[in-house]
Amino acid sequence: MSILVTGGTGYIGSHTCVELLDAGYDVIVVDNLSNSKIKAIDHIEGITGKILKFYKLDILNREGMYNVFEENDIEAVIHFAGLKAVGESVEEPLRYYQNNITGTLVLCEAMQRYGVKNMVFSSSATVYGMDNESPLTEDLPLSATNPYGWTKIMIEQILRDTYASDGTWSIALLRYFNPIGAHESGRIGEDPNGIPNNLMPYITQVAAGKRKMLNIFGNDYDTPDGTGIRDYIHVVDLAKGHLKALQKVIESNGIDAYNLGTGIGYSVLDVVKAFEKATGKEIPYVMADRRAGDIASCYADPSKAYRELGWKAEKDIYDMCKDAWRWQVNNPNGYE
Ligand code: NAD
Ligand code: WQD
Repeated sequence: MSILVTGGTGYIGSHTCVELLDAGYDVIVVDNLSNSKIKAIDHIEGITGKILKFYKLDILNREGMYNVFEENDIEAVIHFAGLKAVGESVEEPLRYYQNNITGTLVLCEAMQRYGVKNMVFSSSATVYGMDNESPLTEDLPLSATNPYGWTKIMIEQILRDTYASDGTWSIALLRYFNPIGAHESGRIGEDPNGIPNNLMPYITQVAAGKRKMLNIFGNDYDTPDGTGIRDYIHVVDLAKGHLKALQKVIESNGIDAYNLGTGIGYSVLDVVKAFEKATGKEIPYVMADRRAGDIASCYADPSKAYRELGWKAEKDIYDMCKDAWRWQVNNPNGYE
């Protein structure tokens, strides 16, 4: 029996493939390489000494997806494939709805057709919107401020309705907080195209001399140092959370949401200081205007994942910084 990983050459997917292979699972990856490189497969196989099966395929390709289920004995699906850039989703909402939602519909129809009803889905803390107070618990009301966030809320609803119609489905909705860092081998990591939108890849590019300085988006938030607070989580801890959720969906039926975060909030300035301490590199920065759509503070109550999945984050902010930096130094141009 195999695990199908959609989006498995991407940032979180590649780290999850390593954990799956290390744990002895057979892994099949479907990815259209729209935001990742085929080289990630070589690196995953190099780290683990194991082989996986790769299909370069768009999950919207129905016949192609049927073929994947026809050719393989699939026990469960971990569904990462999706577009994830918040700003881009505002510019191109139809592309985001089409890719993320139609892609999930085609995947679910293929799963139903082949009787595969175990799924772990990549949701996001973005579903908590602007109005809830941290620490965030899974039962809070959901809302979104951009099309990307709405795709996550809508997909969660589609999956809840699917389970309601057929109680033999088993689905974990994993709401990630802010994944950063890289595998400690330095061989897989985050490989953004162009100017990074997210904090940690921007910091590593400043440290590498590729960008002059960090712009800190807002120092007048209602937080102790005025900069935004987030719950950064090491991508390897996050990947391990998927294996725990996978066990749960294989062993029982139902649908549940779980926060995957550390429960600790760090400000932008805390992250800069931690990076400098962990790596010895200085990060020049300048205070800039707030970024539209940002909130002051967002961190998880991760206790449900601990209680029900037996998972908690193990790595600290220094591990996250050291590992992000090692990936940047070893791969100055990502997978290129
Ligand atoms: P990523 O872009 O690195 O990985 C996504 C992968 O999906 C890419 O390899 C891309 O080529 C592939 N893909 C996209 N559309 C596809 C399609 N139609 N068919 C086949 N493959 C397709 O992103 P990531 O950071 O690894 O995120 C993985 C998932 O987790 C996404 O669904 C994302 O929305 C979600 N998520 C990410 C974060 C984050 O901060 N990175 C936070 C919360 C949730
Ligand atoms: C973190 C903090 C910024 C860049 C995003 C998505 C979210 C989720 C994770 C997918 C904030 C500040 C950033 C910079 C800065 N993705 N910052 N200068 O915005 O919390 O979450 O990624 O689901 O949906 O919105 O992450 O890394 O962009 O920002 O000061 O150059 O760093 O203002 O306080 P964010 P981020």
